[in-house]
Formats: sequence, structure tokens, C-alpha cells
Amino acid sequence: MAGSATLTAVPITWPAAAHWEGISHAIDAQDPHIAAHGNRVGDYALAIALALSLPPETAEIIRIGACLHDVGKIAIPKIVLNKPGPLTSEEFQIVKLHPLIGRKMLEQTGAFASFLDIVELHHECHDGSGYPYGLTNLEIPLGVRIVQVADVYDALTSTRPYRGPLSHLEAVEILQRGSGLQWDPEIIRVFLSLVKNRV
Ligand SMILES: [Fe+2]
Repeated sequence: MAGSATLTAVPITWPAAAHWEGISHAIDAQDPHIAAHGNRVGDYALAIALALSLPPETAEIIRIGACLHDVGKIAIPKIVLNKPGPLTSEEFQIVKLHPLIGRKMLEQTGAFASFLDIVELHHECHDGSGYPYGLTNLEIPLGVRIVQVADVYDALTSTRPYRGPLSHLEAVEILQRGSGLQWDPEIIRVFLSLVKNRV
């Protein structure tokens, strides 16, 4: 695990880009819902990164990391992922493995080094209540904090196996309640300013 406070900006080389396209198609073939969610999170994360005036190369790394963030879920049994009700504690323990599984999947080639923090740490929380390490605040790299906000907004406003989509305003209320607890308050502020004209 990397513990730096900011995402390291490494220029994407063509071999890495080719790997990224390949794994993107593999995710889509395995589970189109994970791929579609990842792509939407990538779009939101890119918008946040650019609004924070991050360099375009860094913003693109964050976008691709966001697209890949749930790649480990393709190793989680579908009967658990798609369960139309609350998970048992045993099932939740299985789901909680997906960030570490995702990292293990991607670190094999070495081409995905720039995205490993996002994949491994996207379920950490600002207040230390997340997993797998219980990191807090700036211990969570900036790119990860951006993806977390993009991820939760898309998760809330999308259909899940156990509920329909929440409205934009319901999602905004949840983001505001979790600002400074689950999520970085500055990233929440920037994201809400980007989507303030939605209904
Ligand atoms: Fe996840």
C-alpha cells in the first residue's frame, strides 16, 4: 500500500494504455454493470480532478483508476454481489475483499502501478472507519478521495439489487451528511458545485 498524501502522476505509456483497454473489455464481458458504473465514476472523477486544477495527465490517471476501482468484484460470487437484500456479516466480509483482490489482479503486470492506490483504498473513510486499513484524512491519497465521492454519488443514483435509484437531491443530502465523516469535505464541496444545477 502506498501512503502518500497525493497521487503520483506517472505519464501513461502506450503499453499501459493497451493493458487498460484490454482489462476494461474483460470487466465488461464479466459484469457489464461493474463496467458501466466504473465508466460513470470515471467521468465524475475526471470532472472533479479538473475542477481542482490538477494537471490533465494526473486527471486522466484518476479517471482510469476510477474506471477500474471495482475490478476486484469480478472475483466475488455474483450470488453475493447481486443479492436483493441485506448481506449477512459473512457475505459482507467476502465483499470487503474486493479492493485487495483488485490490487492483486492489477499489480501482476506492473503496467497498472498508477491506479493501485485507487483500487486498493477506495473504501477507506475520512474518519478512519473504512477498510481495509482504517486510513484517515490526508493518509488517503487525493486521487482516491476524489474517486470516493464520484463512486458514492453514482452508487446512490443508480439501481442496486436491493433498491431503486435515489434522486439527485436525496444523494446530495447523504453527501452533505457524510462530508467530513466518510468523505473529504473539500472534495464534496467541489463536487456539489459541479452538480448544483441538476434536478
Ligand atoms: Fe468498491
